[in-house]
Amino acid sequence: MKLLKTVVTAVALCAAFVAQARTLDEVKKDGKIIVATEGQFAPFNYFKGTQLTGFEVEVAELVVKKMGLKLEWKTLGFDALLTGLAQNRWDVVIASHGVTEERAKAVTFANPHYCSGGMIVAMDAKIRTAADLTGKVVAVQTGTSYLTNVQKLAGVKEVKNFPQDTDAQRALISKRVDAWVSDKFVAKEAAAKNAKAGFKLGDMLFIERIAPAMALGNTSLTEAWNKAFAEVLADGSYAAVSKKYFNEDVRCN
Ligand code: ARG
Repeated sequence: MKLLKTVVTAVALCAAFVAQARTLDEVKKDGKIIVATEGQFAPFNYFKGTQLTGFEVEVAELVVKKMGLKLEWKTLGFDALLTGLAQNRWDVVIASHGVTEERAKAVTFANPHYCSGGMIVAMDAKIRTAADLTGKVVAVQTGTSYLTNVQKLAGVKEVKNFPQDTDAQRALISKRVDAWVSDKFVAKEAAAKNAKAGFKLGDMLFIERIAPAMALGNTSLTEAWNKAFAEVLADGSYAAVSKKYFNEDVRCN
């Protein structure tokens, strides 16, 4: 019995270890690619009623169509997305991840699908710059580049973490914090949608290239994605979606 248990444990351990990301050929054979996102980060990935939509959701749909595959969406908490790649629970993550050295140790990034950065938002027009955050309480979403970049500022009094970016935004509205740092386009849309809230858009704290992620070393799938994405950039379909959401082209130069 004990031996059996040991064997079972060993087999389970091996299975966990060899959980290999699906290669392009395997995905093609299946005919369907599984793409994970958060669904709580408008206007990039969010729910309109029960319908998942947003700029990067539409871009992914264009790319997958070019690849000749069906797309199955999965939506999860932001924090769970990248780890699920290594466990082979989905093939791609597209959830506005900035390309960082740290993340690149764990996943393989495809070419960036837009360029943006972290913006300071406050209710008080005097809080605009990084220096203005000295002695202030700042809200950010857990696991984001906003968190790591605000943590780098020496004078900040406290960084408050929220599981969702919308919670960080709400903390600012209810004045539980002095500032909120989020994506430039997310902040602009939030300001436009809640004119009553009186958000004051401040400086950009940093800029970043935003890219889809694949399991580390899954080059066949990454290359096929990049090729299809290049076609989407070239044929005008990216530009059309970008114009629809932002009235400008947000591709990286
Ligand atoms: N761009 C930021 C980062 O790289 C935030 C991404 C947040 N995405 C989301 N789906 N909530 O960490």
